[in-house]
Amino acid sequence: MGKSKTAVYAGTFDPITNGHLDIIERTSTVFDDVVVAIAEQSGKQALFSVEERKSLIQGAIKSTPGSVRVDSFKGLLVDYVKSIESHVIVRGLRAVSDYEYEAQMAIINRQLSRDIETVYFVTSQRCSFISSSIVKELARFGGDISGMVPANVGLRLAEVFKEKR
Ligand code: COA
Repeated sequence: MGKSKTAVYAGTFDPITNGHLDIIERTSTVFDDVVVAIAEQSGKQALFSVEERKSLIQGAIKSTPGSVRVDSFKGLLVDYVKSIESHVIVRGLRAVSDYEYEAQMAIINRQLSRDIETVYFVTSQRCSFISSSIVKELARFGGDISGMVPANVGLRLAEVFKEKR
C-alpha cells in the first residue's frame, strides 16, 4: 500500500454541521487533499438533494491548510475511494456510542479492501452532541441552531421549514 496524500471524508451530510466542519478542517491539517464524499444512497430519507448538500458544503468550507473538494458517490465507499486512488477513509467519533457502528464499518470496509484504512478524529467537545437529525428537528420547531451549523445552512433550514409550515 502506498502512502496516501488524499483522505476521503464520507457521510450523508443532510445537512453539513459544525461538527462535520470541525473534522474537515482538522483532516486538512494532516492530509494534503480532503475529498468530502456525499453518499447518494445512504438509506436515509434526505431533506436536501445531493446537489443542494454539495453546494451547502462548498458554501460552508472556510480556508483550510490543504485543498478540500466535494464530490458524491453511489455504491460502495471502498470502490469510490479506490476510484480516486486514495487509501484513507476519515470518520469522526463523537461519543462512545459511535464506536460500535464505526468499528463495524471499519472492519467491513477492511474486509472489502485490505488496502484501505479508516482514520478517526475525535470531534471537538463543543460539537460532540450535534447530529444532522437533531439540527433538523430543532429547525423544524424553531429552536436556536446558530452555534451548531454554518450560517448558510442555518438560513437554508429556516427557509425550508418556513415553506413547510
Ligand atoms: N459532527 C456532527 N455530526 C456528526 C459528526 C460530526 N463530527 N459525525 C457524524 N455525525 C452525524 C451525522 O450528522 C449523522 O447524523 P444523522 O444520523 O442524524 O443524519 C450521523 O452522525 C452519522 O452520519 P454520517 O457521518 O453522515 O454517516 P452515515 O452513517 O450517514 O454514513 C456512510 C455512513 C455513508 C459513510 C456509509 O453508510 C457508507 O459508506 N455507505 C456507502 C455504502 C457502503 O459502502 N456500505 C458499506 C459500509 S460498511
